[in-house]
Amino acid sequence: MLRSVNMKHLVIWGGRPLEGKVQCDGAKNAALPILAGALLTGDITTVSGVPNLADVQTMLALLSAIGADVEEYNGQVRIKTNKLVPSAPYDLVRKMRASFLVMGPLLVRCGKASMPLPGGCAIGQRPVDLHLKGFEAMGATISMDNGYIHARAPRLHGAEIYLDVPSVGATENLMGAASLAYGDTIIENAAQEPEVVDLANFLNSAGAQIKGAGTSRIRITGVRELAGTNYTIIPDRIEAATYLVAAAITAGKVLVENVIPLHLKPVLAKLHESGNTVIEGYKSVEIQGGQRLTPVNIKTLPYPGFPTDVQALFASLCSLSQGTSVISETIFENRFGYAEELRRMGASIRIEGPNAIIEGVPTLTGARVQAGDLRAGAALCIAALAAQGISYITGLEHIERGYARLPDKFRSLGARISLFDDDMDHASGFTGRG
Ligand code: EPU
Repeated sequence: MLRSVNMKHLVIWGGRPLEGKVQCDGAKNAALPILAGALLTGDITTVSGVPNLADVQTMLALLSAIGADVEEYNGQVRIKTNKLVPSAPYDLVRKMRASFLVMGPLLVRCGKASMPLPGGCAIGQRPVDLHLKGFEAMGATISMDNGYIHARAPRLHGAEIYLDVPSVGATENLMGAASLAYGDTIIENAAQEPEVVDLANFLNSAGAQIKGAGTSRIRITGVRELAGTNYTIIPDRIEAATYLVAAAITAGKVLVENVIPLHLKPVLAKLHESGNTVIEGYKSVEIQGGQRLTPVNIKTLPYPGFPTDVQALFASLCSLSQGTSVISETIFENRFGYAEELRRMGASIRIEGPNAIIEGVPTLTGARVQAGDLRAGAALCIAALAAQGISYITGLEHIERGYARLPDKFRSLGARISLFDDDMDHASGFTGRG
């Protein structure tokens, strides 16, 4: 089985340019809906390129808990679902909101599904109303009691669904369910993220009839059943962005491999605008960090706009730019949790409503900081790589959710970074490369 390392503290000796090449893993946000989508067939599904992450572990535990046979070996997951239990355990849904993606598959396979209502999380409220409205439009009856949402429908039927916002999760949940519904479903204002397209490609490889994924209008013609399939998931564009920004902030030179440059367009544009040299290859991107970083303004938007998952990384970069940058977050209400921690490192960041106003400073200095969510944690690592002196980063359980072997990968690029499971004081005496 996949096992994540139980890391407690990360220690980073900053101030060294990153150099070399690094490979991205498969995309977390494609792996999670595709693994949930495997519930749509009773045949054997094999998914390759699955990253070794805590969130993937949670999804595999959830699939097992609801009756799937799951085997994993070296990034390949084999799933077979004979008898499904149409009720998801509270502890797993509470741990990871993406657990909600099993609702659509359970509903069409079992005719009913019970899911604990996922609460808010560190980055915002994140309701599931659009998922539920879509299931209702397809004929499901929804009720709630004791903190659970119950959906029932002997067989879903096709429907025209308009999403108030292009929610990634709602598009994925509804697209999967519609694949086995009776008739045609149209999702208007659908999310266009590459991970939505990857799920559609996966489902089509199993016999679904989905057209238009990657545009704002997806048409799904329901089929009687899906077959087993073998599928390899796309590379992780957010992981790629993490190494690119890390190279930029340390004025290093890094070749990031196993990427689809097209998926990174808005990020590459901003890296270029901030004074770095960016060279796109066929399945790679090379970056040479600029000696002088220019401030940039960023507004997060649904794909193909600038990804919300990358804004925290740019906040670290902008902290060392020569001038004032403004980052506007339009997707989630509470995604500036990193600001207070970056300030400990000497950054000058002011939060005004949905905007982070960042005045660049000449240097950041190492400090003890705490990751409050996944991308905030990555942003702190990157700031620490550029900072003068030693940083101690806690809250690593958040980073483990979305990055496999992040410290190892940074170390392979020449970073001085070490993991400590013990008390932080052990780390302060450390002098080697870890
Ligand atoms: N929203 C609603 N109602 C809904 C669903 C969403 O109001 O029923 C709102 C959310 O509250 C949010 C906005 O719509 O304000 C967008 O949420 P969306 O549903 O698109 O996000 P998600 O599916 O929950 C995925 C990724 C996130 C990523 C967002 C936006 C996965 C597993 N997660 O979340 O990834 O930030 O899309 O791109 O795919 C991460 O990897 O760090 C991460 C948080």
